[in-house]
Amino acid sequence: MNHQTLPNVLQKSGGELLTSPKEWEEHRESLLFLLSREEYGFLPSAPDGLSFRLVEKRENYCASNAVFEKWEAAVKVGEQEFSFPFFAVVPTQVKKPMAFLHINFRNNVPDAYMPTEEIIDGGFAVFSFGYEDVTRDNDDFSDGLAALFPRSSGEKTLPGKISIWAWAAIRVMDHIVSRKDIDTANVAVIGHSRLGKTALWAGANDPRFSFVISNDSGCSGAAVSRGKQGEQIRDVTTTFPYWFCETYRSYQGKEEELPFDQHFLLSLIAPRKLYVSSAQEDLWADPVSELRACKEASPVYELYGISGLLCPEDAPAANAVFPEGNIGYHIRKGTHYLSRYDWQQFMAFLRRHRN
Ligand code: GCU
Repeated sequence: MNHQTLPNVLQKSGGELLTSPKEWEEHRESLLFLLSREEYGFLPSAPDGLSFRLVEKRENYCASNAVFEKWEAAVKVGEQEFSFPFFAVVPTQVKKPMAFLHINFRNNVPDAYMPTEEIIDGGFAVFSFGYEDVTRDNDDFSDGLAALFPRSSGEKTLPGKISIWAWAAIRVMDHIVSRKDIDTANVAVIGHSRLGKTALWAGANDPRFSFVISNDSGCSGAAVSRGKQGEQIRDVTTTFPYWFCETYRSYQGKEEELPFDQHFLLSLIAPRKLYVSSAQEDLWADPVSELRACKEASPVYELYGISGLLCPEDAPAANAVFPEGNIGYHIRKGTHYLSRYDWQQFMAFLRRHRN
């Protein structure tokens, strides 16, 4: 267990503590700005044009228990346009289901990370897209959607790829909220690993996500960086510098100098529901530091008079689940993966905390 002191999320730069939700909401804007400037880069503004086209529809999906739809989102920024595909699977037996928006590694439906039939049988709709259909996972910012956002060298706060994937998720949310057949007050954005970082950042930026779920997101995701085991800022910004803005690299080996830590990111979700999941053997992501971030974000929920994470332990045993508070947490047995077990816990959390 690390004992390094973390910055207090409720403390203003002058040192005073925030004492009301109203004060927090003003302060929250400055924290969103801070994380944009220092870590992920500023999210581009909403597009100048946006339309959705139904490309394919199958009524008899999963033994006719669901309708499968393939859509194309067309965005326009200035005079430039870009389209990417996304998918919807909506159960036929449930009126206005709650929904997941899964930012996926692949554009498969179903997929190893997305047990679509179980999700349907659980009574949920699931929207998804493959992140590399938006822009490839490399440092080429002339690729795909990234090309629509001009970049000039020397600017240190331009959006990294995480911001661009998050922006795409927010466009899919634009579609979801326009639908009459979905319970749009109960939509969860979810992602695994690098896409868990992306889901958290999308949820921080778009309050229409009433649930935000991070699975094994680790370094620069749900895990605090101070005292973290496994992956460090130096590692992630050396191998994947383009996920972040340029400024973030200046914190390599200088975690102590960060004017924030990752629990600030989690606190931006409050008072909405947050769920963080870890895997016991995923020491690169560091379950202890993920759990610690949940605990350190909890005072913001308490300011609203509601509970954050309700978990008395610092390093719970494998397969322990803590779903009672408005921040839920579990640690699964095994390694880095997004499993059916994880999805079962997410579904239970949504049912328990439905708005
Ligand atoms: C690498 C990276 C992690 C990331 C993971 C993933 O391991 O170092 O930060 O979360 O890839 O996305 O699978």
